[in-house]
Amino acid sequence: MDLTCLGIEGTAHSFGAAIVSDDGTIHSNIYSMFSPHEGGIHPREASRYHSEIGPELIGKSISTAQIDPSDIDLIAFSRGPGLGPCLRTTATMARTLALTMSIPLVGVNHCVAHIEIGCLESGFHDPVTVYVSGGNTQIIAYAGKRFRTFGETMDIAIGNMLDVLGRSLGMPFPAGPLVEKEALAGSKLQLLPYSVKGMDLSYSGMLTAAQRLWSDGAPLEEVCFSVQETAFGMLAEISERALAHTKKKELLLTGGVARNNRLTEILEGVASRHNVEFHRVSPQLAGDQGAMIAWTGIQQFQSGDSVEIADSHVLPRWRTDEQDITWRA
Ligand code: ATP
Ligand code: FE2
Repeated sequence: MDLTCLGIEGTAHSFGAAIVSDDGTIHSNIYSMFSPHEGGIHPREASRYHSEIGPELIGKSISTAQIDPSDIDLIAFSRGPGLGPCLRTTATMARTLALTMSIPLVGVNHCVAHIEIGCLESGFHDPVTVYVSGGNTQIIAYAGKRFRTFGETMDIAIGNMLDVLGRSLGMPFPAGPLVEKEALAGSKLQLLPYSVKGMDLSYSGMLTAAQRLWSDGAPLEEVCFSVQETAFGMLAEISERALAHTKKKELLLTGGVARNNRLTEILEGVASRHNVEFHRVSPQLAGDQGAMIAWTGIQQFQSGDSVEIADSHVLPRWRTDEQDITWRA
């Protein structure tokens, strides 16, 4: 069966639309990020941004894919987790399209989609996944029909930690890439709280300590270097343990923070020590975008998992391990 899906992503500050077909071809993947003038993201402002640019980006995803709207068989949308106002705006667009085009609607878990797009790109079947972004930090592996969270942050996500730290350092949002750039010039490791508890980790103590280090006069590159080495070292430790426990043979790095070359290098080391394959999701698929929603939506739909409009309310707190993964053996 030839199936073409329009996937719409809008869980937080980014909005994306993509056309993907069931052979895994990404025909278009258009996205744009709302950047607040100052401070963090305000959910209502971000959702207004989505409603302003959404229709145009959806149109662009269709024209870039060089298809006719009537070629679309399925609408997939990011149903959660995320910011309520953003999720509702995105869901409203998805429902409207599904209704007017009389085609099925699929509600996709955003975190699961980050894993599935990584599997599509790498050809991995059953990885241990390191999912790191602005809102999430999880080590995940598939077991018993679910993506189980083996370890996760007990407080803030790694990307959020980097962004908040960056703001204190005078960097614009998102600060992750700038912290990475500064860290290249650093080599002296300052002691920061290394907080791993069982399979979980914590970044808030490290954030406070790094902010103090900076206000006490440590050089910028030293702060950035120390934060990266410590934060990524914690992720490496948990990933190693997850590989040792699960005996899986693939290690996948996905989410916006996967764009970081130093983290990639560290996890490559973990993979080679454990003799497993490694893949880092490419930059254009690492962050939030519609292709991951469309691709996961196709697999869900093919396994019989679609949603009626009346039941398609959003799920702001939908955890990765709360969904039955019907499409995996
Ligand atoms: P989610 O909803 O999955 O939590 P998100 O809304 O945070 O995702 P993403 O695009 O997946 O969106 O991730 C954005 C995060 O990635 C930001 O915190 C940003 O600072 C971080 N980031 C981007 N590039 C890099 C980099 N090179 N190094 C470190 N962090 C990075
Ligand atoms: Fe994301």
